Amino acid sequence: MSFIEQDYAVWVEQDQKQLHPLQHASRHTNPLVIERAEGVYLYTVDGRKILDGMAGLWNVNIGYGNTELPEVAREQMLRLPFTSNFAGMTNLPSIQLAEKLSGFAYADLKTTAFTSGGSESNETAFKTARYYWKRLGKPEKTKIIARNAAYHGISMAATSATGIARYHTMFGPQIPGFLHIPNPNPHRYEGDIRDGETVGQAAARALEEAILREGPETVAAFIAEPIQGVGGVIVPPDDYFPRVRQICDQYEVLFISDEVITGFGRTGKMFALGHWGVQPDILSFAKGITSGYIPLGGIQINDAIRDAIWNAPEPESWMHGYTYSGHATACAVGLRNVEIIEREGLVENSRVLGEQLLKGLEALTEFPQVVVARGKGLLCAIEIVKDKTSRTPDLPTTNALMGAAMNAGLRTRAVGNALAFSPPLTITPAEVDSIVQTMGDVLVKHNSQ
Ligand SMILES: Cc1ncc(COP(=O)(O)O)c(C=O)c1O
Repeated sequence: MSFIEQDYAVWVEQDQKQLHPLQHASRHTNPLVIERAEGVYLYTVDGRKILDGMAGLWNVNIGYGNTELPEVAREQMLRLPFTSNFAGMTNLPSIQLAEKLSGFAYADLKTTAFTSGGSESNETAFKTARYYWKRLGKPEKTKIIARNAAYHGISMAATSATGIARYHTMFGPQIPGFLHIPNPNPHRYEGDIRDGETVGQAAARALEEAILREGPETVAAFIAEPIQGVGGVIVPPDDYFPRVRQICDQYEVLFISDEVITGFGRTGKMFALGHWGVQPDILSFAKGITSGYIPLGGIQINDAIRDAIWNAPEPESWMHGYTYSGHATACAVGLRNVEIIEREGLVENSRVLGEQLLKGLEALTEFPQVVVARGKGLLCAIEIVKDKTSRTPDLPTTNALMGAAMNAGLRTRAVGNALAFSPPLTITPAEVDSIVQTMGDVLVKHNSQ
């Protein structure tokens, strides 16, 4: 046994002293121990090189090995790592980042509340939506409408908004007042479609019907990922979000855009509702704000919500916030990260190389398992089925292909019966080709077995 094998055995044993997220422990028997990373590549302790086709968890937008962010963090930590941002204090990095973000994602969203991650952001969004309606004298407006296949995080309310059953099963009951409607999946829409209706129109109608069924006076907000990530990289039809926006306006329902994945360039626009010319009332963000170098998230709100908070009488204060809201070091890193995304033209790179990636993945539909390739920017997926006529999802094959890709040096992620590709936005054309080539080789091998 080599030195590294002995160490590895010890690490695996010691690793069992932590719980790993979102999986059964029996699937964590021979983890890859990642030692370092550079660009789009991960390197394991035993010398393997893996192209990280998921940019960590859809978040390492500027790629690995950036040297500016550690410098910014070091300087900030030495000067002032943290302040309480509660009553009466603040810090310069959070002031500067809030200023930078004001109107940055969407012109109407000028005010930010910081969190440390996506679940906290959505939690904050739900509470703020309820708060808003109470301030406006409509305390019955508390319900949150979400969609099937949605993933909004893991805290209690975020889990309740999540529309994937296995996240609920062992943690129920869910919080009352969260309900789900069909998602606008153009390839397998679950709701009813009327004659002459598009999937986008039918899915938007499902929202309207849910609001009317519940009573508009009871609905606080609708939450949607512009492109569902964990649910399978579902890109909605173009007519969906414009109609959703109209419906939310008509029934006085706040529209929360969960852009924890799609924000900061991932889809080839800085923020994804921009593809459809729509603005939300509340935006949730996290992940790409720091490219994963340090935890940070937040929400942004429009002026009506901001005014409701700002002008509240003292007993109706917005009693929300975390120890780490506006964390000085995280905000300093976030600010520089956003500047890097802009300076390096990473949104445009995401758009252009996203087209290259999607074209390459579309060519893989020649294999019997790959029914469709879809995506926007560097957020893409191929869907794996038993046969293309019935389109029956094939989860075992999806997982087997993911494992085979990893063995071939490509990290992808099974999201339902789709394999997701969401590499760093710094990826080069040659590296995009290598993703497609490796996945093609894996499929060839799979079909020759
Ligand atoms: C769309 C979306 N919202 C929220 C979250 C939760 O974020 P976090 O894991 O940082 O709490 C995720 C995580 O993947 C996500 O994809």
